[in-house]
Amino acid sequence: MSERRYLSDGSSIPAIGFGTNQMDTDAIASAIDVGFRMLDTAWVYGNESAVGDAIRGSGVPRDEFTVITKLPGRAHGVDEARASLTESLASLGLDHVDLYLIHWPMPRVDRYVDAWKGLIALREEGLVRSIGVSNFNPDHVLRLIEETGVAPVVDQVELHPHFIQAEQRAFAAGRGIPTMSWSPLGRRADLMADATIATIAERHGVSPAQVVVRWHIELGSVPIPRSTSAARQAENFDVFGFSLDADEVAAISRLDSGVRLWGGDPETKEEF
Ligand SMILES: NC(=O)c1ccc[n+]([C@@H]2O[C@H](COP(=O)([O-])OP(=O)(O)OC[C@H]3O[C@@H](n4cnc5c(N)ncnc54)[C@H](OP(=O)(O)O)[C@@H]3O)[C@@H](O)[C@H]2O)c1
Repeated sequence: MSERRYLSDGSSIPAIGFGTNQMDTDAIASAIDVGFRMLDTAWVYGNESAVGDAIRGSGVPRDEFTVITKLPGRAHGVDEARASLTESLASLGLDHVDLYLIHWPMPRVDRYVDAWKGLIALREEGLVRSIGVSNFNPDHVLRLIEETGVAPVVDQVELHPHFIQAEQRAFAAGRGIPTMSWSPLGRRADLMADATIATIAERHGVSPAQVVVRWHIELGSVPIPRSTSAARQAENFDVFGFSLDADEVAAISRLDSGVRLWGGDPETKEEF
């Protein structure tokens, strides 16, 4: 049983989720069997129907799931957001999503405030329970709040021991906006072979991946690791039976390279 994180709109989400990018129905079904109840997808992943199928096939009641999907860049506008969510809901086979995020701000296009107004309207209609953002820098978040008075409930950003997002996390924590970590394992990278992580893993009798996932929990961030393997899914989910002390968290945070390994820069990345 994982812990929960409470959001500023009064709802709550599991403290860990399953990243479904490139995952098919079988891999998602196995993650549900392992215990994951929060599933992160996106319109651009093209697998919302696999997420819906896995949920329906699981026999687990719909209300036990937190389903996250994301608004693509092509739909930054009030009407466009409605049309895109309608498509996502049809693919998912659901009547609402629990958390709807703007996938990227695309500030050069400069329509993310319109997209946010669209999400606010969808929430008011009950088609989405909670609304948030992904890849938004603090100034993008501040602009949403200034122009609409509504703050996102989460910001999902690239976050792993090689890119620890100290400034972003400090901003988000100060505003009561939990950070959700994408690529929490650094897409495996060389983190699994890192000597600092290996030493800590040995001390606790857990795997390097479990140390990294637990590091996110200690930071107060919500990791969404992805794996095709049931055994590794189970490993990633099993991080609530041990904890890291402040020195261990700091040692892992010192692995920061300050360089984005995988994602684009929110200021310039455009994905339609
Ligand atoms: N909002 C955004 O813009 C954005 C961008 C990127 C990603 N995301 C979300 O974040 C999720 C996760 O990020 P990600 O897929 O980039 O990377 P990740 O979860 O950091 O890493 C996945 C990789 O790690 C391996 N792995 C998983 N568990 C492991 C373990 N216990 N031991 C060793 N290796 C392990 C997986 O291989 P195996 O499959 O072989 O286990 C896979 O190659 C995505 O699925 C997506 O939902 C969001």
